[in-house]
Amino acid sequence: MPDRKQQKKYDVIHIGEANLDITVPDVPDEFFTDDFSTFVCGLITDGCGGDAANQALCVASLGDRNALFGRLDTGMTGQRLCSLMEERGVDTSLIIRDANCCTPRIIVNVRKDGSHKFLVGKGINYGLHKEDIVPGTLDQTRILAIGSLFVLDTLDRENSVADALKFCRDAGGKVVADMTYDVRGLGPHFYEDIYPLIDFMVPSWDEAFYVTGLEHEEEMADYFLERGVGSVVIKLGSKGSFFKNAAERFYTDPYSVKPVDTTGCGDNFTAGFIHAYLKGQPMRECMQFASAAGALNSQGLGASSYIRSEQMVLDFMEKTPVMKVART
Ligand SMILES: Nc1ncnc2c1ncn2[C@@H]1O[C@H](COP(=O)(O)OP(=O)(O)OP(=O)(O)O)[C@@H](O)[C@H]1O
Ligand SMILES: [Mg+2]
Repeated sequence: MPDRKQQKKYDVIHIGEANLDITVPDVPDEFFTDDFSTFVCGLITDGCGGDAANQALCVASLGDRNALFGRLDTGMTGQRLCSLMEERGVDTSLIIRDANCCTPRIIVNVRKDGSHKFLVGKGINYGLHKEDIVPGTLDQTRILAIGSLFVLDTLDRENSVADALKFCRDAGGKVVADMTYDVRGLGPHFYEDIYPLIDFMVPSWDEAFYVTGLEHEEEMADYFLERGVGSVVIKLGSKGSFFKNAAERFYTDPYSVKPVDTTGCGDNFTAGFIHAYLKGQPMRECMQFASAAGALNSQGLGASSYIRSEQMVLDFMEKTPVMKVART
């Protein structure tokens, strides 16, 4: 468990993507295949999106003291995101509002089976810059949560992600790094140098496959561990998850649910893991709680609007059966 709790202002600081999700539910399958020009869907809503914002909303709902550290535009999108975060208890005082920034908006098309397809709108200058990483911020947190590797924008381009991680770790904090698709073509080996600065690497199977070129969870985990990562968690969607570090390795079977919308399950999983870890729980229990948070998020629309308290997750764990998955 990251120590010196009393001396730190925050339990978690989140860096990475924060954008506005426009969720379009009940998109008919024909929308993706037919030539018609007009289709009817469900009630369209907006909400927080982006891995860092999703994780921040869930972590705050679970009761931890957290802040989003990022750059948002000075227009309606930035304003809306700040309000949504404040309503849920996320500290927004570290957010830089920048007139030269355009915060991305993303359209989330949700099919009737709960699966989704993103249309990612362009953003401009929406990441942290090297000069934003100064003493007094990232050294004030027990955990630095990266949401996610491959979407750190200017920090990636300026090769300054390591600086951010070092501020946190040098002050006794831990780094939890989620991962997402390499939409900007940085290449699978882009982060190799910073693996030793990552305490927990939390990719999905697809993301780990992209980086490692390996297909089995165990081999994927070993790839990261051999290169200096502390512990590895591989998210396996409806097949659960896998954990490995120097001391233990195990699978966590998924909760049995019928998803309404799986957007953000990975982010809520990571948030759940962080919350349980901050409470000092053993790794198996951290993974169990994470698994519940991931599955529970799928029971409502939106990437980060469903989970509202730790109790909600505990109740879900008590009443929901776990599905046994055969492993090879
Ligand atoms: N259909 C499901 N049934 C049960 N649990 C699920 C389901 N989908 C996701 N989960 C839980 O949530 C975790 C994270 O989901 P997933 O593997 O889809 O992450 P991801 O690919 O990072 O998703 P995201 O699109 O949110 O980034 C899974 O490891 C699992 O524990
Ligand atoms: Mg993810």
